[in-house]
Amino acid sequence: MTVMFPAELALLEARLATGLEAIETRLRQEISSEYELADITARHLVEAGGKRFRPLLVLLAAQFGDDQASGVVPAAVVVELTHLATLYHDDVMDEAEVRRGAQSANSRWGNTVAILSGDFLFARSSKLLAELGPQAVRVQAETFERLVIGQLRESVGPKAGEDPITHHLGVLADKTGSLIAAAGRYGAMMAGVSAELTNEIAKFGESIGIAFQLSDDLLDIESDNSGKTPGTDLREGIRTLPVLLALNDPRTSETLRDLLSRPLTNHVEHAQALAELRAHPAMDQARIVLDEWIARAVTALEPLPDGDAKTALRTLCDSIANRSI
Ligand code: IPE
Ligand code: IPE
Ligand code: MG
Ligand code: MG
Repeated sequence: MTVMFPAELALLEARLATGLEAIETRLRQEISSEYELADITARHLVEAGGKRFRPLLVLLAAQFGDDQASGVVPAAVVVELTHLATLYHDDVMDEAEVRRGAQSANSRWGNTVAILSGDFLFARSSKLLAELGPQAVRVQAETFERLVIGQLRESVGPKAGEDPITHHLGVLADKTGSLIAAAGRYGAMMAGVSAELTNEIAKFGESIGIAFQLSDDLLDIESDNSGKTPGTDLREGIRTLPVLLALNDPRTSETLRDLLSRPLTNHVEHAQALAELRAHPAMDQARIVLDEWIARAVTALEPLPDGDAKTALRTLCDSIANRSI
């Protein structure tokens, strides 16, 4: 966990650490298979690491009720398994070679095995979910529908006449905000938090989820040590916010405009686009939009009762704003 909680949250932090340990144990139990290939490919990314951001959010949301309730840990496992399943599929779609600092499943075993391994994880997630009751199953179904539609909308792009930035933010809400909102919702639901407060926590999750993806997309351009190959979006021709803002900017050179308008499989072109984009004012503009979504998430915390859990959620916002998570 890369979130630096303030010293006064030491007690809560210890509770979270215990919860996260229980989640890790359960996660490994839920993915084991007698069929060796499924067992190996599923374990591959679980063991490679990952931030466990969504399980952490499940635990934090549960702090507003009974965090020891029996559904909390399984719900966190369901969310992480769903997330993992989407990563296996996303890496096929994005032709990504590195994930969580390890070789991606598609790069190691090929697309067929990677797609089926993602399906296997989703099956295991659903099996565990069935124990949490029909309402929890419905949340998962609605969430997954949004996530899939988000990925579809991203791959197809905006309709004629649709503002590309509005379209893009809608995509981020669907493909990423949905599951992070569900993490908050599950944590609260399982801990017996009132329906009203649960909805507020889910709303917070949606905004912080959009911020999380905006931050990830900045890191795709800025960072050389995210555990993923930098510039994957540029290579695939996926227009993230900095690219959309640069394309809107009259100061952008014709050369860069051309490079940002198509997939870049040529290494020299890719390196040139990445270097020019890193130095472009669109990066700062995208950071401002990120800060706006962080501010929305912080505002969404207002209806929640004051206390350590709320302070921790604010710290989570800071970590995303600083891109330290
Ligand atoms: C990656 O999610 C996909 C996005 C929504 C940005 P994470 O950044 O949470 O990936 P892991 O779980 O830490 O690998
Ligand atoms: C993936 O989005 C989000 C999902 C819903 C799977 P990205 O394609 O931007 O995520 P990374 O950068 O590969 O983690
Ligand atoms: Mg990707
Ligand atoms: Mg993608």
